[in-house]
Amino acid sequence: MQGRGVRVHGGQAPSDALDFSAPRNPLGIPTFIQELLSSVLSADLFTRYPDPNYRRFREVIAEFYGIEPGYVVPLNGSAEAIQLLLPIVKPRALLVFEPTFGDHRIAAHALGVAYVPIPLRVKGTFFTVDTELYSEIVKSIGEGFVALLSNPNNPTGALAGLSIVEELLEHTPRGSYLIVDEAFIELSPSGRSVLELCDDRLIVLRSFTKSLAVPGLRIGFLYSCNRSVVELVDSLRQPWNLNSLAELVIKEVLGKLVDEYRKYLEKARRIIAEELEFLIPALRALGLLAFDSQAPFILLKHAIPHPEFGRRLALRKIYVRNASSFLYLDQHYSRISILGRDLDKMLLEVLAWCVEEDLR
Ligand SMILES: Cc1ncc(COP(=O)(O)O)c(C=O)c1O
Repeated sequence: MQGRGVRVHGGQAPSDALDFSAPRNPLGIPTFIQELLSSVLSADLFTRYPDPNYRRFREVIAEFYGIEPGYVVPLNGSAEAIQLLLPIVKPRALLVFEPTFGDHRIAAHALGVAYVPIPLRVKGTFFTVDTELYSEIVKSIGEGFVALLSNPNNPTGALAGLSIVEELLEHTPRGSYLIVDEAFIELSPSGRSVLELCDDRLIVLRSFTKSLAVPGLRIGFLYSCNRSVVELVDSLRQPWNLNSLAELVIKEVLGKLVDEYRKYLEKARRIIAEELEFLIPALRALGLLAFDSQAPFILLKHAIPHPEFGRRLALRKIYVRNASSFLYLDQHYSRISILGRDLDKMLLEVLAWCVEEDLR
């Protein structure tokens, strides 16, 4: 294989197209981060290793979220967690609520862990977590599994409330774990984090990729009240898994820049809430099935399948995420990201044209 790689991440928007495919903060990277990055590049930051214990990093995270620093493990993006957890827990199976972010499936396959998808249930325009189905699957598997729920979920946008997570935990026997991946929670208008729950079986994954719009920096963390899981993940991770720049950004953002960061997040959530309220009924009025969302993106079902759907949008220089690579979805599904009112209106106009095209 000549450097081709095995991973597929939803394709690449053509350089002249408006990219509605990548889910992120619609405000883009904040100026306070841009200024910070340009001011530190010349500093003596890269000639030393970062602190292998990431003490200050853990402290600022703990202060910001009101959690215990000792239960925080730095991650090179939240995607790193599953690769650390599977060899530690050695589960008999990885149970994942699907359709969702596909890297967990790739990691399970590479590590020889049985992968058990648990279908999310579609009720009209909602995707919901079927706790009874979970309980049945859990009984058939027995102890020693890891289950994973992304919340809010990518690509469905669905958010499971705290009570659902508590119910899943009740069905999770000791010696098994429930991972809640909260990569998008900071951008969820009504999302409530499960960081406040302290349970031996619960592992929470957090990321700054989406909230700060910095996928290339690779910053996340794991949180669990399970001391032994935390210690094992901490000892298995590479000693400097967060590079100096990523470490510094979080120390500054959650330290000196914390007020700016809070305002930036509040503004992003307000825009996302307004755009969801604007877009979802407008998309439905076009005859598209727009699923309810509490995330900075919307899952669409359309009569015209890909690649024709994408080809029509490309004629008008619009690029969306063909969602057919997600489990249980097919060429009739796309994910669109929220970019802000002007661009979202433009997307609606182009989608209206696409649908009319279908009638001709
Ligand atoms: C649900 C979900 N979790 C995790 C990730 C990866 O995030 P990170 O950049 O923090 O590794 C993604 C990326 O799209 C995602 O959609």
